[in-house]
Amino acid sequence: MTTTAPTVDRRKHADDRRLIIRGLRVAPIADPSREILQGIDLEVGPGEVHAIMGPNGSGKTTLAYALMGHPSYVVTGGEVHWRGRDVLALSPDKRARLGMFLAFQYPTAIPGLSVASFIRSGLNARLQGIDKNDEIDPTDPVKGGVSMLEFRRKMREKLALLKMDETFVTRYVNEGFSGGEKKRLEMLQMAMLEPELAILDETDSGLDIDALRIVAEGVNAMLNPDLGILLITHYQRLLNHIKPDVVHVLAQGRIIKSGGRGLALRLEDEGYGPILREAGLEVDVPDDALRLDEPASLAH
Ligand SMILES: Nc1ncnc2c1ncn2[C@@H]1O[C@H](COP(=O)(O)OP(=O)(O)OP(=O)(O)O)[C@@H](O)[C@H]1O
Ligand SMILES: [Mg+2]
Repeated sequence: MTTTAPTVDRRKHADDRRLIIRGLRVAPIADPSREILQGIDLEVGPGEVHAIMGPNGSGKTTLAYALMGHPSYVVTGGEVHWRGRDVLALSPDKRARLGMFLAFQYPTAIPGLSVASFIRSGLNARLQGIDKNDEIDPTDPVKGGVSMLEFRRKMREKLALLKMDETFVTRYVNEGFSGGEKKRLEMLQMAMLEPELAILDETDSGLDIDALRIVAEGVNAMLNPDLGILLITHYQRLLNHIKPDVVHVLAQGRIIKSGGRGLALRLEDEGYGPILREAGLEVDVPDDALRLDEPASLAH
């Protein structure tokens, strides 16, 4: 007779799928009194792409790490909710099983572990989910797992998407990889694991122009109505390829401005100086030092 209850339920469901960050404060574990993040408020809904830009040292990577539960950081205040969970109460492993993914700014090598084994373990953990459903055995295709054949088929498809050579999967994770290859491997992991929330920390840096286009096309091919993306970047150039719904400027541990794509264009044009001053922040370096110049690797 009344439609109130289902409407409320639907809205609750929709809210659950939004990443909600409220008043997040984070410090390095070695010095908990020196807060790097000083109250971040941010919401990312499913299907939304949020770009985060900001000067070096403003706290972008710290935000990415804190969201994933990096052990070098301590959360000194605030909340993070996603999919009905108190994210900050979960181990990094559980956050990943829940569907969160971080593409590292500086990926680490893991000698002795092949790319294929690494990704297969990650995929199996994802399939089993956060509550480790015993009914699902990721190694058993009959019990909801991915067969070796299916895994290989999927891997080939994703390698082709990112224009990566098939020999990559037999190599050790990031061992001897070039900077650009490391960034592509991060994207291969994302393509295989199919997260619902992806944080890409400067995935564009170190890529040449062709690789940037390939990676951006890869990300665009992964976009879907269930996937929320936090895209950390210094360069408006990436945003020509991956269109953000919102652009945020992070400076001195706070989001000082949010806007549309025009904000990224303004930053490219003016650098960070004027926007920092507008926010009432002290800027003690000349504006030219805060410009978003092209990385050296692209200056040909
Ligand atoms: N584990 C840590 N211990 C001490 N200080 C840290 C730690 N991690 C980050 N910092 C400091 O916090 C500040 C923010 O660092 P962060 O790496 O988050 O910046 P960023 O915005 O990602 O910069 P970039 O654009 O250069 O990648 C820097 O001054 C950095 O030196
Ligand atoms: Mg960083």
